[in-house]
Amino acid sequence: MLHHPHPEEPRRLRLSGAALAALLSLPLGSAFAASPAPVEGRKGMVVTAHHLASDVGLDILKAGGNAVDAAVAVGYALAVVYPTAGNLGGGGFMTIRLADGSSTFLDFRERAPLVSTKDMYLDETGEPAPGRSTEGWLAVGTPGSVMGLEEAREKYGSLSREALLAPAVKLAREGFTLNAADLAMIEEVDSYLQRDPAAKAIFFRAGGEPFAPGDKLIQTDLADTLQAISEGGAEAFYQGPIADKIVAGSRAGGGILTSADFKNYAVRELEPVRCDYRGYEIVSSPPPSSGGVIICEILNVLEGYPLSYFGQGSAETTRLMVEAMRHAFVDRNANLGDPDFVENPLERMLDKGYAAEIRGRIDPYRAGVSSDLTPPDFTAAPAESPETTHYSIVDEAGNAVAVTYTLNGSFGAGVVAPGTGILMNNEMDDFTVKPGVPNLYGLVQGEANAVEPGKSPLSSMSPTIVSKDGELFMVIGSPGGSRIITITLQAILNVVEFGMNIQEAVDAPRIHHQWLPDRVFMEPYALSPDTRRILVGMGYDVREDANWPIWGEAAGILVGGRSLAEIEAGDGTGYFGAIDSRASAGAARGY
Ligand code: DON
Repeated sequence: MLHHPHPEEPRRLRLSGAALAALLSLPLGSAFAASPAPVEGRKGMVVTAHHLASDVGLDILKAGGNAVDAAVAVGYALAVVYPTAGNLGGGGFMTIRLADGSSTFLDFRERAPLVSTKDMYLDETGEPAPGRSTEGWLAVGTPGSVMGLEEAREKYGSLSREALLAPAVKLAREGFTLNAADLAMIEEVDSYLQRDPAAKAIFFRAGGEPFAPGDKLIQTDLADTLQAISEGGAEAFYQGPIADKIVAGSRAGGGILTSADFKNYAVRELEPVRCDYRGYEIVSSPPPSSGGVIICEILNVLEGYPLSYFGQGSAETTRLMVEAMRHAFVDRNANLGDPDFVENPLERMLDKGYAAEIRGRIDPYRAGVSSDLTPPDFTAAPAESPETTHYSIVDEAGNAVAVTYTLNGSFGAGVVAPGTGILMNNEMDDFTVKPGVPNLYGLVQGEANAVEPGKSPLSSMSPTIVSKDGELFMVIGSPGGSRIITITLQAILNVVEFGMNIQEAVDAPRIHHQWLPDRVFMEPYALSPDTRRILVGMGYDVREDANWPIWGEAAGILVGGRSLAEIEAGDGTGYFGAIDSRASAGAARGY
């Protein structure tokens, strides 16, 4: 967020950061650029997109829970207080790095219903039927969040299920006070939610009027559902009355979910993707996410250039990032898919030699052309809003957890299963609805990501943990659809290459390229006018894009200092948390 001086502010009070620091005789290390200072914690840190969920996570840590316990409690709490993305009716990923340095990954993403078919989103003429993969019950994949959180708790948590669900049950049953940030999320999808009677009954006043600041959002059905999970675990969700109600809601609404989808649902514990970037070990999401693979492919390419010398936001750094993104995204869109269904060429995509080959193909003087990279068997037409959430947690022992989970679009498919209080996802749109046709995020994808029964759609979610010399260094991730990958990448580079502290790193304006459409998207102020002119002169199509939700809401933690310089100089204690200034309801909480 950029702060402009108030127009009436007396001129003499407009001091530069450096002048102000001198005036207050602060050491220069305490002066921050455009961002507030990161939040400090000695023993633990919880960073989420909703302040009430951050409070829940912190309480669990203080009560002796570990980072996984806190992550589970936060996952349930966000389903209550952050309905735009927090969920029981969606899915996601959890990257865990334990204090002993070992790491693992839980995949609890949605799976395609067992009776789904490759062409289910096309009309009689073979074209995508508008809205079919994004709105209503046909867009819904079998949800994984509850089983994911339960498996995390059973395998890596230490507190009881009841203890971890209690805060969410309370928030749903007793309600919580809505503030302007909460209301803005509902308002954005107002007419969408009004269409579904069960959703309307929850997110609007009894007469259908919008809530006002200070109103309480009470979710009794959701409280009952959470209580049932608290008592009966994942089984209560997947095999009992809850699944029955969701299946009934789906049938009534023209969906195809059956009880077999719920009975067959299983979480996958997978090896995370790992790569080394100049001595930093990146641990991130493997397929069915493209996130970790593509972050690593881009980093492998960029490792060959002195980015810190070229500088953040320079034309040289920007064009190298754009070219690395272009090459990595075409690999993503053409090759990757659910690992149980397709052979993912990870070895090649993660190979340093392959990255060197890509560097060799980058023209130093002219913009690359995406259509030149189109794979021979790939149908691609040029292309052209949404919600997911990421949270990062570290505990006193040094266990770290990064979770990104989602309903896909904001409030998902916009439907609630009657009697459950559960908002359902529209994750099916992440599949290739038709090769060559862009999805909600403009991604043009191929056959590897076609709909098949029981398959997960390819994701971009990238819960990432970075270590250095065997020590935990950074926990990071973001929502933002296909931009999750480049948001997470830029947050890492901002810290390790450009010297930003963790708050500056998640706040700094960003750029994005995803092969197709062949455009460099820039957030306002990401590039100076003359930088932009240099890039345009090289042939880049640079577009300013102020569509803020799509630029994500990163949540990061740095260990042992606010910035790399502090870590390298410092005593190595403490956690420094930062919620993206774009996340108006979020908070970093440390203790
Ligand atoms: O899994 C994915 O890649 C998408 N469903 C994520 C959606 C998302 O980040 C929406 N948030 N802005």
